Amino acid sequence: MNPLAQELNRILEGTIVDKLLSDYGRRMYFPKGIISQSAEAKQKATKYNATIGIATESGSPMYLPSIYSMFAHDGLTQNEIFPYAPTAGEMQLRKLWYEDMLRKNPTMKDKKVSLPIVTSGLTHSISLVASLFLEKNDTILVPDMYWGNYNLTFVEQREAKMIQFPLFSNEALNIDGLEKAIDSLDSQKINLILNFPNNPSGYSPKISEAQRLCEMLTKKAFEGKHLLVLLDDAYFDLFYEENLYRESLFSMLCDAHEHLFAVKGDAATKEEMVWGFRIGFLTFGAKGLTDSHYEALTKKTMGLIRGSVSSCSKPSQNLLIKAMQSPHRLEEKEMNVKQLAKRYHLLKTALGKYAHNKHLVPLPFNSGYFMAFVCAGDAEALRIHLLDTYKVGTISIQGTYLRLAFSSVDLEDIEDLVTLVYKGADEVFGA
Ligand SMILES: Cc1ncc(COP(=O)(O)O)c(C=O)c1O
Repeated sequence: MNPLAQELNRILEGTIVDKLLSDYGRRMYFPKGIISQSAEAKQKATKYNATIGIATESGSPMYLPSIYSMFAHDGLTQNEIFPYAPTAGEMQLRKLWYEDMLRKNPTMKDKKVSLPIVTSGLTHSISLVASLFLEKNDTILVPDMYWGNYNLTFVEQREAKMIQFPLFSNEALNIDGLEKAIDSLDSQKINLILNFPNNPSGYSPKISEAQRLCEMLTKKAFEGKHLLVLLDDAYFDLFYEENLYRESLFSMLCDAHEHLFAVKGDAATKEEMVWGFRIGFLTFGAKGLTDSHYEALTKKTMGLIRGSVSSCSKPSQNLLIKAMQSPHRLEEKEMNVKQLAKRYHLLKTALGKYAHNKHLVPLPFNSGYFMAFVCAGDAEALRIHLLDTYKVGTISIQGTYLRLAFSSVDLEDIEDLVTLVYKGADEVFGA
């Protein structure tokens, strides 16, 4: 094993991270070579700096005017666009995202967590966590309502096994079902991913459910389990009902117990509505972890980033920095969230008219982009019928559920969408 990896492992020895790391994660390190030599040269090489791996001219990055001209004249400088970003992301962005996390999750204040690491979107964050912590044949618990991409990341990439637990029981969050699933596993190591607001159901826990869920997970740590809880917060901040827990579960879990390691995966992609910018984040938290533990883990994560995408998009990061400093951003965001909330409420009203329909039964939803129906027959057959007959696109999942993204249907079309979906269902599942 590389001595740098050995050193990071020594720093992490005895911590929950040490107990959870995969072999790959254990081998991971961040090489000193080029980065430290470049840093040294930046200080001392006043004559010629022949260390930088980009093309420069008179100290500035070379660029093609036909590319630079696409950026606003009073926008980003050449230096903010063309060179590489640091491996863990622009420091200013990492700090801004952390401060914004505290604004959105006020109970995180005074809790010791790592500084967010910039990733190339939340998919990348999830993949990094899988690499660091999942071993071949490990199990990872996922709700039965889950984002299909987990199959590629956990099962195909890491050869782990996904074990599903039912997300709902009697229209409420199935905390007992999750506890049962945890208890049914032989291993001391428990890997779990939770995604709220949920894709595809659109559900977020009520305050009482969030508290009970976190208490149950903490109890498991007290009982001797070693838990990795990955919080996929892709749709964070899109809450449409009053009684919901409006912080990430990370707030409660990041200092719950020495044997409960919480990882917050979140992203600008959806939160700042910059899907194609490919900017996500990873933040770690567990009771008792110190700055040097977080630094060691950050170095391992940087090793993974350096060995895969090398670094994340520089112009995206700098555009985001500027946007996050803008006095208008929060107001603009609120306006968009209000738009989505209006669609949500109209959709609820429209669905209310079909409360007795047996062909499509909506699952509980209160947040995010989506809602999903349980279908009385083959959801895929209904999807194809809606597409062919009414030119309406929906997503069928596991042959049972039909998902509607109200995030991508204008307010004035919501009622018609519901009418067509129920009409189609009556035609396919009718009689
Ligand atoms: C639940 C969930 N997690 C993660 C992601 C990935 O987001 P990103 O575009 O930041 O990779 C998505 C995107 O659809 C998602 O639905």
